[in-house]
Amino acid sequence: MGGYTLSDHAPLVHRNTLRVAARTQLLAEVRDAAKLPELLAYPAVRNGQVLVLGEGSNVLFVSDYPGTVVAMATQGVQVEADGEQARIAVAAGERWDDFVRWTLGQGYAGLENLILIPGTVGAAPIQNIGAYGTEVAEFIESVEAWDTREQRVAVLDSAACAFAYRDSVFKREPGRYIVTAVRFVLPRQRELRLDYAGIGDELARMGVAKPAPFHVAEAVVRLRSRKLPDPAVIGNAGSFFKNPVIPAAQAEALKRKHPALPLWPQSGDVGKVSAAWLIETAGFKGLREGDAGISNRHALVLVNHGKASGAELWALAQKVIAGVDAAFGIRLEPEPRIIGG
Ligand code: FAD
Ligand code: EPU
Repeated sequence: MGGYTLSDHAPLVHRNTLRVAARTQLLAEVRDAAKLPELLAYPAVRNGQVLVLGEGSNVLFVSDYPGTVVAMATQGVQVEADGEQARIAVAAGERWDDFVRWTLGQGYAGLENLILIPGTVGAAPIQNIGAYGTEVAEFIESVEAWDTREQRVAVLDSAACAFAYRDSVFKREPGRYIVTAVRFVLPRQRELRLDYAGIGDELARMGVAKPAPFHVAEAVVRLRSRKLPDPAVIGNAGSFFKNPVIPAAQAEALKRKHPALPLWPQSGDVGKVSAAWLIETAGFKGLREGDAGISNRHALVLVNHGKASGAELWALAQKVIAGVDAAFGIRLEPEPRIIGG
């Protein structure tokens, strides 16, 4: 048996950044994607539920997992470069932030705004990771996956991935695809994305007048390090709620009533409003119940001060959802995958 290892009743506490002490009935750590069909055919795996996990930076385990967790630990990067751009195929288990830094070191542009996002490359397309005015979808040519429904390797081009804000076909059909590799196309040069709040000011503070991609990356690192709590210090999963996308008329009415509400115009008859502002204004920022809390640095971040269980964290999240709904008539949706809730 090669390509993967199995362990029974395995702890997940070091496999989720909220540091929830859940366990899984079976853990399979996969180092060779070609062995997935063999692994999935085991009766113990085939007859139960399967959850694919990267670094666990966007999941909340509300209870123990009564099935098999498949942890993707595959490695490898293949590059085909010409003068202007590179096509790069990356194995699902590679660390996203290492990959971003490597691309910048090789002189490729595009991923600079997405530096310092935790997690694996294979998870990046699941919610179409985004930050500071860029979404990863822009640079994905295709995604290679094992299609558990059709029992074959599938290559989904960007259109088939149906990317949207924090969304994709992978999120909408959970359990169907196991992403094994992502193919990116990165240019040597692009018009840098400097318009998102804070980047321009940060570059000015750094004394940079003519930014290169690595300057933008450094500005984003500085901004993120100031704003977001570090999971190595305090358990969290980044933004716990999505910024709500609501009918434009509702967004404008809310903005008239609360002029300070950050509102980002969208195409179509909708507007995106700041969930952090709604949560802070409803009075939840810094709240702590036992070891479950809402960060006092950023109102969108649910934190584990120590030994909070998944159920305690989920109860606090539901309290926030109900409170924001009562105050503003908007129902927040969690961003991470809620497992067992
Ligand atoms: P996991 O948490 O392990 O999994 C997340 C989901 O993807 C699960 O549903 C899982 O089943 C599925 N999945 C994972 N790997 C695969 C695979 N190979 N095949 C199929 N399904 C898979 N996100 C942003 O978009 N922007 C940010 O700015 C951002 N900042 C963050 C900051 C912090 C401090 C933290 C803790 C998180 C942040 N996140 C952000 C969320 C998170 O980093 C991303 O969603 C990341 O892509 C998750 O990667 P992961 O490997 O940890 O996935
Ligand atoms: N704000 C508050 N209170 C707070 C924090 C923020 O009112 O405690 C307001 C501020 O007015 C601020 C606005 O919210 O201007 C926006 O805040 P920020 O720039 O931090 O962005 P965000 O909307 O909170 C989103 C993403 C992040 C991403 C940043 C930067 C979502 C759900 N979150 O956060 O992604 O890094 O923009 O682009 O879209 C993640 O998905 O895990 C994540 C961290």
